[in-house]
Amino acid sequence: MVSFSKIALFAAVAQAAVIPQESPTGLKVKRSGDQDIVTWDKYSFFVNGERVLIYSGEVHPFRNPVQDLHLDVLQKIKALGFNAVSIYVHWGVVEYERGKFNWDGVFNLQPFFDAAKAAGLWVIARPGPYINAESAGGGLPGWGARVEGQWRNSNANYTAAWQPYINSVGKIIAKNQITNGGPIIIAQPENEYSGFMNPDGTLNPQEDLEYERLLLEAFDEAGIVVPTVSNDAWIGGHFTSVDVYGYDNYPAGFDCANPISSWPDPPDYFYAAHRDVAPNTPNSILEYQGGAFDPWGGAGFEQCYKLIGPEMVRVYYKNAYASATHLLNIYMIFGGTNWGHLTNPGGYSSYDYAAAIAEDRTLREKYYEIKLQANFLMVSPAYLTSVPVNVQKFPTSGPNITITELWDEVGEKQRFYIIRQSKPSENTNSAFKVDIETSAGQLTVPQLGNAAFSLPAHDSKILVTDYPAGPVDILYSTLEILTWKVIDGKTVLLLYANTGESGEISVLTNTARKVDVRRGKSNTVTFKQTSSSLTLQFVVGHETVVALDDDILLYVVDRVNAYNFWVPDVNLKDDLPVIIKGGYLLRTAKFSGNTLALTGDTNGTTVFEVIAPKKAQAYTWNGKRIDTDLTRHGTQEGRYRTTTPRVDIPDLARLKWKYINTLPEVSNSYDDSNWVTADHTSTTNKIKPLTPVVLYASDYGFHSGNILWRGHFTAAGGESEFNLSIQGGNAFAYSVWDNDKYLGSFTGAPAPSAHNGTYTLSSWAKDSNHVITILQDHMGLEQNWFGGEENFKSFRGLSDYSFGGANPTLKHWKLTGNLGGEKFVDWARGGYNEGGLFAIRKGYHLPGFDDSKWASKSPLKGISGPGAEFYRTTFNLNIPDGVDYPISIDFGNKVKESYRVEIYVNGWQFGKYIDDIGPQTSFPIPQGILNYKGENTLALSLWSLEDGGAALESIDLVVRNKVEGGVGAVKNSPAPNYTVRPSSY
Ligand code: GAL
Repeated sequence: MVSFSKIALFAAVAQAAVIPQESPTGLKVKRSGDQDIVTWDKYSFFVNGERVLIYSGEVHPFRNPVQDLHLDVLQKIKALGFNAVSIYVHWGVVEYERGKFNWDGVFNLQPFFDAAKAAGLWVIARPGPYINAESAGGGLPGWGARVEGQWRNSNANYTAAWQPYINSVGKIIAKNQITNGGPIIIAQPENEYSGFMNPDGTLNPQEDLEYERLLLEAFDEAGIVVPTVSNDAWIGGHFTSVDVYGYDNYPAGFDCANPISSWPDPPDYFYAAHRDVAPNTPNSILEYQGGAFDPWGGAGFEQCYKLIGPEMVRVYYKNAYASATHLLNIYMIFGGTNWGHLTNPGGYSSYDYAAAIAEDRTLREKYYEIKLQANFLMVSPAYLTSVPVNVQKFPTSGPNITITELWDEVGEKQRFYIIRQSKPSENTNSAFKVDIETSAGQLTVPQLGNAAFSLPAHDSKILVTDYPAGPVDILYSTLEILTWKVIDGKTVLLLYANTGESGEISVLTNTARKVDVRRGKSNTVTFKQTSSSLTLQFVVGHETVVALDDDILLYVVDRVNAYNFWVPDVNLKDDLPVIIKGGYLLRTAKFSGNTLALTGDTNGTTVFEVIAPKKAQAYTWNGKRIDTDLTRHGTQEGRYRTTTPRVDIPDLARLKWKYINTLPEVSNSYDDSNWVTADHTSTTNKIKPLTPVVLYASDYGFHSGNILWRGHFTAAGGESEFNLSIQGGNAFAYSVWDNDKYLGSFTGAPAPSAHNGTYTLSSWAKDSNHVITILQDHMGLEQNWFGGEENFKSFRGLSDYSFGGANPTLKHWKLTGNLGGEKFVDWARGGYNEGGLFAIRKGYHLPGFDDSKWASKSPLKGISGPGAEFYRTTFNLNIPDGVDYPISIDFGNKVKESYRVEIYVNGWQFGKYIDDIGPQTSFPIPQGILNYKGENTLALSLWSLEDGGAALESIDLVVRNKVEGGVGAVKNSPAPNYTVRPSSY
């Protein structure tokens, strides 16, 4: 998450940012094993000697604990026209206990790398040690709280902490490098190593070059030979000792509550700033805004999608191309879920991110917009050697337009004009003529009639000149190019614009050509032939297909129809010269003999059009034959009827629910002798507590979920008040009891992460025994954005407490979080999955536990007073194969009350719902966590913070989408059953 301090820092240094920093020469570690598979020059990367645009999307394997669903997401990324995926690895997840690595089961990275390879994507590996990512600790492990001194610099204690991790993950990365036949082409040490702090909290302008050297050395020692990159938080020239300097940018901001109107003007200085800092490497943006994060009590991701929707992609992504960006990674393309307490306090369970691929893996309109752009760039190799040569702004009268001209410095022929609204937040539509440079001299386009070039509000377009599409030389096009392919010697060119706009294309030709409108209205097409060119103008409607003699076929379509086209192989090598129209998603296409076998997803009756070589004699969709007819323009068309069978979804309200009290701790007879005794009298934490013993959960190994404290006292007599200072992270809550008497709660609010409370005691009798029990939330470890800071060590627990009236004698404090703390018991679901509630410590959230002796009660009936109860039920699902039906658990939220629910599905913690803070009310549970073919165990904790108690308003299983197709069989993630936990309490 971009913290406020980061934004402030950014503002302070943004102006200085363009001033190049001397690259720290002499520090660069010599890379071991020379490799020449991934190389670069000042324009772009090369893979196997071929110049490539690296267009990538970010996903976090740790946010998707179903191995078989990786391929689904990766195929969706591939189908965008992308060629890479970028990942973070979360150190704290895999080394929850210091020195003990968990790379098993859902934490095994190998299935992800294998799926990337199968999908045909390269991987950019970003293992940290620090990642940020709105994740618990920003990737740093909880036990780090006890490692003294500054983190993210060359502090020897910190070095000793991260080195085993980088060694462990580094070897996994090394094994999967392209040099070893794997998909990894690039590796990034650290993340946003851009702001630095002194131990006293003042800013330090200097990065720690020794830390950078140690990191590169560790990458080297692990056998990582692919190029290293950095991800500077702005073009500030930090961490330039990597092979290829890179940076990130979130140009549209995070103000989800004020979509579009809050858009800042797009920046125009990227290319120049990049060239100043790193003139000999490609302009590389390691993170570019794919959506937004959202805090507790935030606007919600549907609202963020309005901020970062298709319009944002049109304006700001094209603006990144205007800066000649030749490595572009979209953060996030698929966000996933903060299951198992993986979030930092700045976020909630969903990490949907309003990304192109939603948390439930459905495709948003933005996905299709990105696909148009990526497809174009992949067939425009001159873009890779083009640089901006001219930025023109027309601010005075007339349209407020910015035109960036890119010129191909190597080919010395092509130009790309990126034309955008200068103030894209404003609601202005513009129509004007554009002056362009072409091999035929300067032209003012459109040329025919009185037509104008239209640029609606919140839009941007790319106009090309002297653009070769195979054998066809395009002099210019004001219509945007989606793609082109040469199929059996015929050039098929796909062009698009918004409905109703006019667009023009001029093709160089010295012979008179027959213009034949084969589909669409011929009166929407006008043209002019000269001795050297044929210029055609279209009024763009749904679809017009025009043949220019027999060797050129133009499709001119509106944007929404353009979304329907898929190019299974965007390479220009013509290995698979096929374009398909139709379908929700095209996953794969391949010839088997003369049959073109297609796989993908459909929703509703689909008319496929197949533009393929004559060799294709038959077509199949997911193995079923599609009968096709020849169109007037020589392609094949066939209808496919989707079947999305009805399924029975159990009504959760009608199920038999069992429950227990999950706060036995507030009964007078409760025995906590097996709990951890809080007996530390000193802490390495910089914030020294005022308590007689340290009451910080991480000092005792508890880093997630609920934390419980029990202070045992003997009264002096007359104690009348209990005061405490407690911290749990944003939106946290707590409840306090004196023996079995409820004292009160802090119900929480979106922002406060700490609270000072005062609770009235009913005057204690001298020598009476009292236990103060506190149940608190742990909202996740804080991030640690600044190098050298120790923010992730922010304590969870009490920094101070006192009594009014009289001072009792402390006997001792006890605490618990998840059973075992860092020595957690559930290896399959990992250390973060569990919290400290009684039922969870006992393992009652797990499938297979026999709850028959529990009393019956539904969470819709709920709990009658303050406290916490735990509910269980089971239900069956029977969802057939061959479909993708994402399911969520949804809570009713009309009346907001102070209660909190944790959701456990087959033992996996898959959501935390806060009724009066929100915004999340719908929790997608992926197939594989939900058993789609058989029994499921659903368990809920219900913590009421109100005297009147709490009950769920409603709880439903909701099928969110229905498509036929899907990725194929999805194995359930391991969900080990309940076994007695002998050491539990
Ligand atoms: C970047 C950071 C990412 C993520 C992103 C916001 O600054 O590198 O890890 O936190 O901001 O979502």
